[in-house]
Amino acid sequence: MTESLPASVFPADFLAGRVILVTGAGGGVGRAAALAYARHGATVILLGRAVGKLEQTYDEIVAAGGPQPAIFPLDLASAGDAEYQAMAEAISYQLGRLDGILHAAAAFEALSPLDMENVEGWTRLFKVNAAAPAAINRACAPFLSASDLASVILIGESHGHAPVAYWGGFAVSKAALEAYFRIQADEWSDKPMRVNLVIPGPLNTPQRARSHPGEDKARLPDINALTPTLLALMRPGAEAPRGRLIEGLDTLPTAP
Ligand SMILES: NC(=O)c1ccc[n+]([C@@H]2O[C@H](COP(=O)([O-])OP(=O)(O)OC[C@H]3O[C@@H](n4cnc5c(N)ncnc54)[C@H](OP(=O)(O)O)[C@@H]3O)[C@@H](O)[C@H]2O)c1
Repeated sequence: MTESLPASVFPADFLAGRVILVTGAGGGVGRAAALAYARHGATVILLGRAVGKLEQTYDEIVAAGGPQPAIFPLDLASAGDAEYQAMAEAISYQLGRLDGILHAAAAFEALSPLDMENVEGWTRLFKVNAAAPAAINRACAPFLSASDLASVILIGESHGHAPVAYWGGFAVSKAALEAYFRIQADEWSDKPMRVNLVIPGPLNTPQRARSHPGEDKARLPDINALTPTLLALMRPGAEAPRGRLIEGLDTLPTAP
């Protein structure tokens, strides 16, 4: 089992004054990262489809003394370019800047043979897992490029990197995300924005409980095991990683 690194390896306020959008902030990796970013001084925009869950994350940040977050409810399965454009403009208008995005929202459907899947399910998976991160980045790019080397983090999946039977449209959507990552990293190679893709391996989250329902959760890495990496990748500074595909928890950068 991989232990979480203590958050204390990061300076308490190294994200002070920065504004970070976190998708999927109502649960799983997104919620854990949003709490950590706020704990280190960032103003966090909490995006997800369930307002109640976002409010819980909001309340935890405020109770811990973090900067007041913002809530942006949006269903990535139905949103289009107009909604993403409006979101980016609202962030700029209300918060004045955008320094980073963590794309932690993901759609998952039960594992099944390809014969059992359908175009509606594939479309939903592709929209949430690949098209939405690309569209959000596109809409936010004018504001990200005004920051000092803004950081965008995508979260891939081992079955998108090396697909196998029964992972179906989910694996295809994550493979698409990885292809998008390579294109975007190339196109941003001379821009003041960087993008990295993390493939963490198993983590004890709600999604993992759906993909592996019979597994002993006590043997899984803690939900916060990825948090040090997500903090390190969000740090400002020209020496920060860019265009990197980071696989596994053990090889990840840790402290800024
Ligand atoms: N957990 C693992 O073992 C593991 C391993 C490798 C990679 N990953 C990747 O890590 C990332 C985070 O995964 P996780 O385990 O934290 O997943 P999770 O627990 O299922 O959380 C995913 C989040 O995405 C949100 N979401 C789902 N569909 C949405 C939609 N249509 N619009 C807006 N938000 C939506 C969910 O909101 P609701 O609560 O409303 O559903 C939830 O907050 C994903 O990209 C996942 O593929 C996870």
